[in-house]
Amino acid sequence: MKLEEHLAGHDQDLRELVLKIGEIGKVIHKGFASRQSVSDTQNVYGETQMALDKWADQVLIDGLRESGLVKYLASEEQPDVLEFEGSKSDIGITQDPLDGSSLIGVNLAVGTIIGIFRGSVLVPGQEMIGAMYVLYGPLTTLTYCLKKGVHEFVLDPNGEFVLQSEDIRIPDGKIFAPGAIRKKYLDGHLKWIEALEADGYKIRFSGSFVADVHQILHKGGVFTYPGIVGSEQGKLRLLFEGNPMGFIVEQAGGATSDGYRSLLSIQPDGVAHRVPIYVGGKKEINLINNINGGI
Ligand code: AHG
Ligand code: MN
Ligand code: MN
Repeated sequence: MKLEEHLAGHDQDLRELVLKIGEIGKVIHKGFASRQSVSDTQNVYGETQMALDKWADQVLIDGLRESGLVKYLASEEQPDVLEFEGSKSDIGITQDPLDGSSLIGVNLAVGTIIGIFRGSVLVPGQEMIGAMYVLYGPLTTLTYCLKKGVHEFVLDPNGEFVLQSEDIRIPDGKIFAPGAIRKKYLDGHLKWIEALEADGYKIRFSGSFVADVHQILHKGGVFTYPGIVGSEQGKLRLLFEGNPMGFIVEQAGGATSDGYRSLLSIQPDGVAHRVPIYVGGKKEINLINNINGGI
């Protein structure tokens, strides 16, 4: 089944939006071969932007502005929320145009992550009406959730997204993807990691959040990029990474946490809000919440 058919039954603006982001994803993927240089600018997090980060950001901004579907757009690569005048819809978007972009040079999987709201995006993630990501790996896939299941499509040789997995549910699994530096782990986090290790969990961490969470969505287990000594809020961003991927995993029967509560319950203090991230199975998320609650 084609993506367009699968979207039947959702609001027209949301259908158009998902299809549009799929089209923009195809354009972004084509830029990988020729745009790998490092730019001379930094984003609001002090990270050097790749030429590709900036380019992909602009391709999304231009495409979504032209579509007339989006009113508010917040991007990992922009300091402020953009507002598009004359939009025919009230959709708010968050975008990480390229997640894992440092891996393109070594040909590992990267992706585009999108959160979808009605109106403002500076609200807790539980207000999201949808989320999606395009993953550029050996295959290009598009995963979307508009609160009626999590569904995955694969780009076929004709350039069409066709259904690959419907109603994905996160299974039990024993993979963990632990980011950051072990010697800087906080007490609760270290206890939790040691419990997973004692239980036979196996490490799989690529450096691309979207790819790592995608794997866990299919195979079970848990991704974490925790707060650490000297960086208690961690590295990853609530709006652009934690919330959209967390929304998808929660809708697939999994759970999220900042170590204490669901990521989706957190009121962002601005576009650049960083947060410790735990995304995966309910069992693993309950365990970190319980360990921290008992400390
Ligand atoms: P981005 O490419 O959007 O800046 O995100 C990179 C993120 C995330 O994808 C990944 O999990 C993490 O950074 C990896 O960080 P380390 O290099 O510290 O492992
Ligand atoms: Mn990212
Ligand atoms: Mn990025």
